Amino acid sequence: MKKFLIAGNWKMNKISSETVEFAEGLKAKGLSNAGDVCVLAPFTDIRDLGKALEGSGIGFGAQNVHFEPSGAYTGEISVPMLEDLGVGYCIVGHSERREYFAETDETVNKKLKVLLAAGITPILCVGESLEVREGGGEQTFVAGQVVADFAGIPAEDAARVVVAYEPIWAIGTGKTATPDQAEEMCAFIRGVISGIYDNPTGDAMLILYGGSMKPSNAAELLAKPDINGGLIGGASLKVDDFAAIAEAAAALS
Ligand code: PGA
Repeated sequence: MKKFLIAGNWKMNKISSETVEFAEGLKAKGLSNAGDVCVLAPFTDIRDLGKALEGSGIGFGAQNVHFEPSGAYTGEISVPMLEDLGVGYCIVGHSERREYFAETDETVNKKLKVLLAAGITPILCVGESLEVREGGGEQTFVAGQVVADFAGIPAEDAARVVVAYEPIWAIGTGKTATPDQAEEMCAFIRGVISGIYDNPTGDAMLILYGGSMKPSNAAELLAKPDINGGLIGGASLKVDDFAAIAEAAAALS
């Protein structure tokens, strides 16, 4: 049976009261796969989100972390701070952080290591720009990211990473990758992981698709053999849309 994870990435949206309203609404949906659903919120929302979701089985987490445990890093948040909030998940290397906040494969790699050491599940984002895809270089580019991001991470730890394939040209654009394009890249990434480690590690890895996933296209994307779920931005902001995507995954499990 294929495993799924449906992860909502709120990005820089929602204040605390909206967080609680969302959590109450989502709980009221009585999702049959609540344990395979999580919400990645702004740091300022996480405590209230965690409280509001308590006992629901729905996971929660952060969208970024610093790789040092403490120190003079103004404006940053550390792993011990996330642990204190009880987060289960943390996005690493989202393309918006790579593009606007100078995130590199080197910092991504450090962040993966400290999150894994703390038992927090990293959701590692990789994906090519439109320019790279139009030049036919998407596989080379994404393989380069995966190899660099997993450098020095042993197989038993690697197996706990969730990878999200997010073509930059599909994020927030309404222009979703076709199910075949998404499947092709998720299968390719699985092969890269199998090549770095071994087939069982590649086979067991959760690989998500992200980029304008919504209720109208989720079922078709999620039905693909190598797509284990979604990292959902825009459609995760509304309870009905997010719950519909979770139910689409539940119907396939
Ligand atoms: P989107 O964002 O669903 O709004 O395209 C996905 C993401 O950036 O994680």
